[in-house]
This record gives sequence, structure tokens and C-alpha cells, in this order.
Amino acid sequence: MPLVPVKDLLLKAEAGGYAVGAFNCNNMEIVQAIVDAAEAENSPVIMQASQGAIKYAGLDYIMALAKTAADKASVPVAMHLDHGTSFAQVMQCIRYGFSSVMIDGSKLPLEENIDITKRVIDVARAVGVSVEAELGKIGGTEDDITVDEREALFTDPEEARIFAEATDVDALAVAIGTAHGQYKGEPKLDFARLKKIKSLVKVPIVLHGSSGVPDEAIQEAIRLGVRKINIDTNIREAFVRGVREIIAQSPNEIDPRKILGPAKKAMTELIQEKIRLFGSSGKA
Ligand code: G3H
Ligand code: 13P
Ligand code: ZN
Repeated sequence: MPLVPVKDLLLKAEAGGYAVGAFNCNNMEIVQAIVDAAEAENSPVIMQASQGAIKYAGLDYIMALAKTAADKASVPVAMHLDHGTSFAQVMQCIRYGFSSVMIDGSKLPLEENIDITKRVIDVARAVGVSVEAELGKIGGTEDDITVDEREALFTDPEEARIFAEATDVDALAVAIGTAHGQYKGEPKLDFARLKKIKSLVKVPIVLHGSSGVPDEAIQEAIRLGVRKINIDTNIREAFVRGVREIIAQSPNEIDPRKILGPAKKAMTELIQEKIRLFGSSGKA
């Protein structure tokens, strides 16, 4: 079926009290693993392409892969731009057929973030593409900052209310203690802040940096209103684990298909586990 806007998936998730996984894709094996897992779980799914993915694969290749996968899929699939950096890039992705885009103005002052998000929404909404924005700064686990410094970057609930009212955005990514990449210790999520944000903002909430967040914390976040959960690092780990295992078993293997095939299987299994954790199995 054709790619569907993320907004449609999140509205259903809101009504059903579950979350939809948004999995980062960089090549054919990852795209196939995401759709295979979603079909095995009869779940809606979001594929997303980051700046790194676009640079690595090219916008045309990654989009062609996503479109082919969605066309063949028996479940609803969305293709989303992850952390879009500029108005021009977002427009380019819409032109290429993305069904959803993120404009990440989180590094801008509030008024400028509102302004660029509104400009994107003006165009995107006219062509049925949904829009995610970010408020607060979700850093990387490698960022060398103290807990206090990180907390200063968390989303302010009152700003979230102002932002949502001013933009009417379709999905809002918030900073509540997660970070991109592998965690050094166990991440501690600020659930009180999430609860406050959710009481002020009706928009579906997005959790970035969700790899490595304990299952119970993910479930609590969903209970408190998170509807889109971004996973990249765990997929990378599964891919590399699959490759390492096969090379260890068959060090003389020279057929890339016999190496990437098992890596794809490892990613599919991981993604299925996430889909079950997010509660979207059977919701296609
Ligand atoms: O948002 C962060 C994702 O993990 C993407 O990272 O730009 O290296 O693909 P990447
Ligand atoms: P992780 O790599 O930490 O799973 O984060 C993914 C993400 O938030 C992509 O936007
Ligand atoms: Zn992210």
C-alpha cells in the first residue's frame, strides 16, 4: 500500500494507548528487516532516514527502497525524515515522496523554532505530509555534560504548551532524559516532566534515543503519552552482532548474501521485540 503519514498512525496509537516504532534505515537489508518485522507482528511501522542515512545512501536510493517496501507490504508503512535540518531539505524530502518530516529547530530560540515549524507545516499540510518538531535538546550519550547541565536542556512544559498552540504540530519530540547512542549507565527518565507536558499538550509525544532505555521505562513512557519511539542504535548492534556471528562461524565466507542475510534476521528479531514492547502488534 502507499506510504501513510505518521500522523494517521499516531492518532490511532493515541486512541489505542500504544506507541508506533520509528526505526532508522540506511540500506536495503535494514528496510527489509523493518517491514518483515512489522508484517510478522501485523503492526504499523515508521521507517526514518537521518542526515547520515541520506548522506550514505542518497535520498533517491533510500526513498526508492522505502517506497518499494511499502508498496509490497501488507501493513501500513510511513517514511519519515529524521532530524530535518533546514526548510530546503524538508521541501526536498516532500518532493521525493516522504509521507512525514521532522524539522528539528531545537537548537533555535523558541520563537525561531516556532517560526520554522509553522513554515514547514504550511507547505506539508497542503500536500498531506505530517510534521514532527523538537523542543528541548536531546543530545548524544557522548556529550560530556553533567546531569545538571543535561536537565537544563530538558523540555519546559510551559514552552511545550506555547509551542503546540502556536504551531499545531502533528508530533512533538521532547527531551526528558534520553540521548542518542549507547548509554554508559542506565538512563533515568523524568516522568514527572512528561506527565506535566502531556497534561498541557494534546499532541502525540515522540521519544528519541530509545535504544538502551529499560523496557519498564518505555512502558511507563507509553502509559504517559509517548506515541512514537525512535530506535537506531539497537538496530546497528543487531546488524553487527549478526555479521560477527557468521564471520566467527565461517571465517572463509566470501558471499555477502550469506553474511548480510543472518544480519537481517538478527535485526528483524530485534525489531519484532520492540514492536511487541510498544504494544502495536496486531494494530495494522
Ligand atoms: O538521530 C540519530 C540517529 O541515530 C541517526 O544517526 O545521522 O549517524 O544516521 P546518523
Ligand atoms: P537511538 O540511536 O539512541 O536509538 O536514537 C534514535 C533516534 O532518536 C533517531 O532520531
Ligand atoms: Zn533522534
